[in-house]
Amino acid sequence: MAIDDSLRDLRARTDAVVAGGGEARVQAQHGKGKLTARERLDLLLDPGSFHELGALMTHRAVDFGMNGKEAPGDGVVTGYGTVDGRLVFVFSQDFTVLGGSLGEAHAAKITAVMDRALKVGAPLIGINDSGGARIQEGVDALKGYGEIFYRNTMASGVIPQITVIMGPCAGGAVYSPALGDFIFMTERTSFMFITGPQVVKTVLSQDVSAEELGGAGVHQSRTGLAHRVGQDDAETLHMVRELLGFLPANNLEDPPVRPLTDSHDRETHDLYSIIPQDPAKGYDVAEVIRAVADDRSFFELQPNFARNLVIGFARLDGMPVGIVANNPGHLSGVLDIDTSDKGSRFVRFCDAFNIPVITFVDTPGYMPGTDQEHAGIIRHGAKILYAYSEATVPLATVIVRKAYGGAYIAMASKHLRSDLVLALPTAEIAVMGPKGACEVVFRREIAGAEDPEQRVEELVKDYRDTFANPYMAASRGYVDEVVDPKNLRAELVNFLRVHGSKREKLPNKKHGVMPT
Ligand code: HXC
Repeated sequence: MAIDDSLRDLRARTDAVVAGGGEARVQAQHGKGKLTARERLDLLLDPGSFHELGALMTHRAVDFGMNGKEAPGDGVVTGYGTVDGRLVFVFSQDFTVLGGSLGEAHAAKITAVMDRALKVGAPLIGINDSGGARIQEGVDALKGYGEIFYRNTMASGVIPQITVIMGPCAGGAVYSPALGDFIFMTERTSFMFITGPQVVKTVLSQDVSAEELGGAGVHQSRTGLAHRVGQDDAETLHMVRELLGFLPANNLEDPPVRPLTDSHDRETHDLYSIIPQDPAKGYDVAEVIRAVADDRSFFELQPNFARNLVIGFARLDGMPVGIVANNPGHLSGVLDIDTSDKGSRFVRFCDAFNIPVITFVDTPGYMPGTDQEHAGIIRHGAKILYAYSEATVPLATVIVRKAYGGAYIAMASKHLRSDLVLALPTAEIAVMGPKGACEVVFRREIAGAEDPEQRVEELVKDYRDTFANPYMAASRGYVDEVVDPKNLRAELVNFLRVHGSKREKLPNKKHGVMPT
């Protein structure tokens, strides 16, 4: 073949791959409000940075109508590129080719980029839009998922793994996102479920729409699976880029520090008005976080799930930090099963990737009652204790108001090895709230009093003066400093400057057994 012919041949083959399932299917994809696999990569990656790998791979299946069936790229686009100049590996499933279904070659393309990402030490971002295991390829398709799940597990804690759901993600396919670190979804067009509405109807005789069963709304508020949801593909991908800005490329790197654009010792006077003096009054803890963070900027994760605990990333002194904060603006900031899952998983992610954790405490304790007890608050609540205890990254704790009972211990107390425990003068640290405590200890005395209500009031005042303040804890050294709220940002910046080089080792073991 002459060189011109061979080049023409190469171009024709490449063009066919880029065309995916063809114009009609691309139009159908757009008609559903979805971008194509390549358009998504264009938005995710820096312009012109995408390098494709395995573009010419395709299936070798012959059964069930597959013999000679064209499947450009085998329904997935794979390769690498950059986000803000930093290397990432990517795969993007192409629904226009066999519904983005996963067969042997499709899976091999994905596992090849997973292997490279792990070897090189760079984040992996997978964009899912797929009908799941390719039915025509039988066990080869199932094997493909198994190979992906194995690699997800091996890569866990080594490189960040982000999944973006932008179409169906059904059946066992949901477990790759679940094994990774962060899941993003797009409103109205993305779905995750183990079995779809048709199977639910057949097995359980229940009528449910795909949206009700596993749409973005369900996963951002009920299951907590979706860390963020965008209104369309473009917004979702923009949020993924934003998240990557906080993360190191791998577990051996420090997180990316940016030049400081805020004053390192800016006074945080606004905390005087954000935090109510009345301990019974709620407030939005995100305002406290923003007051303290560089440029008042906070990238919240799972904002609509377990809202009594707020988590996310911010910067302090240009350094990424993970924030965990009880939110008295929702259910008084109580700790329950969902907050335990939300908080502990996030602390473990930060710990795996060298991101310091700042914890804001204002919680009346663990949630009482049969619902939580019977659903396993004991084993779920244990996760928070476990996650903080095993964390070796710099840990700073700010006790804003209430730190009662088990929740005082669990929320990164000195006893679980927080490096710095600060308390605001409004902090209350005690075994339980004043009223409950007096009614337990002085039950008989109150019952026998001439005016029981008056007696309770007196006892509550005495209890508050004795326990519901930070000074007993400070006198024991469990609180390092009681600080004026206006100095909080400066104190935390200083903490990071001093503790940034912290190195701590856990006892030698294969791995612990985390409560689940
Ligand atoms: C092969 C598939 C496919 C699949 C879709 N297609 N899913 N081909 N294997 N799993 C093909 C369709 O035949 C069709 O091809 C094209 O993709 C587009 O699909 P449509 O159905 O026309 O699209 P739409 O109406 O948008 O519906 C999309 C869908 C539906 C909701 C995803 O296709 C569907 O329900 N698919 C099956 C989903 C599922 O149950 N997956 C679980 C598989 S089991 P043509 O040529 O007609 O355009 C699994 C287990 C993994 O994944 C185990 C891991 C542990």
